[in-house]
Amino acid sequence: PMAKELFGLNELSEKIRRTYGLRKVVVVPGDCEASPLTKRDLGREGAKALLGVMNQEDTVAVTGGSTLAAVAEELNPHASVSMKNSWFVPARGGLGESVEFQANTIASTMAKRVGAQYRLLHVPDLLSDDAYQSLVQDRNIQEIVDVIRRCRIIMHGIGDAMEMTRRRRLDPAAAEEIQREGAVAESFGYYFNEQGEVVHRMITLGLRLEDIIRTEIVIGIAGGKDKATAIHSVLRFGHEDILVTDEAAAVEICRQI
Ligand code: BG6
Repeated sequence: PMAKELFGLNELSEKIRRTYGLRKVVVVPGDCEASPLTKRDLGREGAKALLGVMNQEDTVAVTGGSTLAAVAEELNPHASVSMKNSWFVPARGGLGESVEFQANTIASTMAKRVGAQYRLLHVPDLLSDDAYQSLVQDRNIQEIVDVIRRCRIIMHGIGDAMEMTRRRRLDPAAAEEIQREGAVAESFGYYFNEQGEVVHRMITLGLRLEDIIRTEIVIGIAGGKDKATAIHSVLRFGHEDILVTDEAAAVEICRQI
């Protein structure tokens, strides 16, 4: 039964890899929505995938979320590569997450775990146009935003669009608008429709779409059956290189392709 199961996971990952032209797909057994152990496995495989592509002087931008928090928990110093000249930074400014799931928190935790450096981006959630315009003029903020935009690796979570509007406590009018626009997925504060097109964005600083598009290595990590549509949408956006997911999501994604 063991061998058969493994074969199944390999088939799933290979089908997803080929369909979206990815460099690598890792599928852990189980459903991380149903089991905290699966979430931990997902985190561990995410940590492995990240360390597998990092070099000595790298900049890694990370999003927030519980899945990225699981990756941070499982991150251990690299066996052979010193990380003291590498940097972890948040991908975007405040997005309305609770503290333990904020990108700033994840970036600093990851850096401390592997002995790397980190820089944080302290900008409030839900920026007004005016606040945004004045923050982009700030020298310190410009400096960290430049570091973020020059990252070589991005590691990000993927969420269901409506779920993320709730988690971020968007007001009902904003959430309705996002739904009307046909959003099914959310990542980096961008909302995507089923075709993988960006239909809505949250105003904050950090990575812009053009930065994501030109970043050398983009690692997406998300699992659970309910996230299949969201993952599919972000894969269709077309700029992922590595996907780390679980069996429940992979089975459902393969059903949709
Ligand atoms: C957010 C990220 O913090 O977490 C998003 O900014 C992602 O990119 C979301 O969609 C996913 O969260 P979780 O907890 O489901 O991993």
